[in-house]
Order: sequence, then structure tokens, then C-alpha cells
Amino acid sequence: PTIHVITPTYSRPVQKAELTRLANTFLHVPNLHWILVEDAQRRTPLVTHLLRETGLNYTHLNVETPRNYKLRGDARDPRIPRGTMQRNLALRWLRETFSPNSTQSGIVYFADDDNAYSLELFEEAKDNVRDRPDRFELTGTIAVNHYNHDEQESISEYTTLPTLSFVGYSSRTQCPMRSTRKVSVWPVAFVGGLRYESPKVNAAGKVYGWKTVFDPHRPFAIDMAGFAINLRLILFKPQAYFKLRGVKGGYQESSLLRELVTLNDLEPKAANCTKVSKHNIKSILVWHTRTEKPVLVNEGKKGFTDPNVEI
Ligand code: UGA
Ligand code: MN
Repeated sequence: PTIHVITPTYSRPVQKAELTRLANTFLHVPNLHWILVEDAQRRTPLVTHLLRETGLNYTHLNVETPRNYKLRGDARDPRIPRGTMQRNLALRWLRETFSPNSTQSGIVYFADDDNAYSLELFEEAKDNVRDRPDRFELTGTIAVNHYNHDEQESISEYTTLPTLSFVGYSSRTQCPMRSTRKVSVWPVAFVGGLRYESPKVNAAGKVYGWKTVFDPHRPFAIDMAGFAINLRLILFKPQAYFKLRGVKGGYQESSLLRELVTLNDLEPKAANCTKVSKHNIKSILVWHTRTEKPVLVNEGKKGFTDPNVEI
């Protein structure tokens, strides 16, 4: 299946850097379709050119968030939804582009432009998955030749190296969002005042709650980056959108997910998506990083540097 990655984005000094970083990640992922939605009155030349030059498979959309919804004062005020109208437009685009009966299989993932994504998040599910890393052994012999000037002959010394065993990098199913049947979930780092937030998974592999401190009783206490949805579900529930009004902080994700699934439907991926190939260390595959605003005070009112240079 194709992974449809939905990214809302808006104009600011770091925008091109963010989108470049994202494109560099997505270029490593096979069968990915990037739906980039600008929060702007029209599609900007900067984003248009950037997309064209990436060589990615993409769709470029735009919708401007009305002023009365826009950031007022504190840009981190959680009551003001960011990127919501843009994600909804992308959902609408998917519904208008693909028919529910189409054989085209797909996965939908919301990827904000400032997060960091491991490639393992997008990996193809593999059959014959091995649970343990491969072990390799390496050994050999070193031959050293000396020349004895008195005897006028060369002497060879052979040394057998001790056996070295090491763990190989076998490719295993990690967080195969591509195998999502309804909605798959996994932990996200740097949200809710924790190193990471995570679904709680019981021995039977069912999600029964949320390991979060901030409002764990939310229906889906999960960040936007922590789930993927099967395209079919999006198409079969054409009324499901993110709510724009009256959504309390941290409830945006729930406002969509509750229209699509119940807790019981959730698919935690590969040991809650924390298992990792190298050395069997559990690790997180997506980080809710936030980019610091660059300091541009020395530009002054008129601007110091050449305004024709795109950053
Ligand atoms: C957190 C969540 O991770 C977001 O998914 C959620 O939308 C947001 O809170 C919220 O509830 O408002 P956070 O890092 O605070 O994310 O938000 P941003 O990264 O600043 O914005 C989320 C996305 O919307 C980004 O892709 C950003 O480029 C876009 N955005 C932001 C706009 O399109 N327009 C804006 O005015 C602001
Ligand atoms: Mn963010």
C-alpha cells in the first residue's frame, strides 16, 4: 500500500529547512505520497519549487486558517488548533480522489513538519520475521613475512585471530504502519512533559489505556504522530473530520479517532513499536521535536541581508 503522508505547513523563517529535512526522510521511503497543505491564501512559490525539486510523489494543496482561529498571543496555547483545517482538506482530497470500492490500498499518516521520523516507522512489513538479531562470526589468519639478511631467506609467521562474534543488522518488522488494518498506534517522544507517551498494551496485545500524565482519560491520549489509519476506513466514514470548534487542548486527535474506531480496534505495532533491530534495545521511532525560532534581531526593520535570497 501507498503511505499518504499529510503535512500542514505555514510560512516562517524555518519553513524551508523543516520541509527539506522532511523531504530528505521521505525520499528513503518507497511508495510514499506526500500531501503537503499550506496554511496560506495561495500556494507559495517557495513550497512549489521545493516540492518539484524533491522528486517525491506529492500533492500540493492550500487552505488558510481563518484569522479568528489563528495563533493569538502565545503560540504554544494548546486551545488553538494548529494545522487542523489543512489536515481536514487533505482528508477531503483523499475522499474525492479514491472511491471506497477502489482496489487501491493505502495508509494515512499525519506528519507535522517539525517532528523527526525514523525510517523504521515506514518500513514494509516482512514475512519470516526473525525475533532475534543475526549473529555473525569472524575469524582469520594473518601472515607476516620477515626477511632474514644473515640467512638470506624469508620466514613466514602465521597468527590465527581469535573468533569475533557480533550482532548483525537483520531487517525485521518494527513498526509496520503499512500493515495497518484500521488504526495502528505507537509511542511518541517529547509529548505531555515526558520522555515519551505510549499506549498501554496488555498481554493479549490490546490497548487498554494510555501511559500519559496529562489527562490520561482522554478517549485517545495520543499525539498526532502516534497513529496511522487505513485509507479504506477514511473512505468508509466520509463524515469523520478533525473538530475545529470547542476542542480542549489534547483532544484534537480524539476528535477524529472517536469517529473511526474504539479502543478495542487499535493495533499496537510490533511490541508497541519499541522493539528495535540493533542489539534488541527498545526505542522510540518518532520524536515530537519543536524547532526554536531563529533570532533575527540584527536584520533590523528594513532587513540587513539580501531579501532576494531564499532561506
Ligand atoms: C501539537 C501536536 O503535535 C499537533 O499535531 C497539533 O496540531 C498541535 O499540537 C495543536 O494541537 O495545535 P505543536 O508542535 O504544538 O503540535 O504544533 P506545531 O508543530 O506548531 O503545528 C502543527 C502543524 O501545523 C505543523 O505541521 C505546522 O506547520 C502546522 N501549522 C502550525 C499550520 O499549518 N499553521 C499554523 O498557523 C501553525
Ligand atoms: Mn510540532
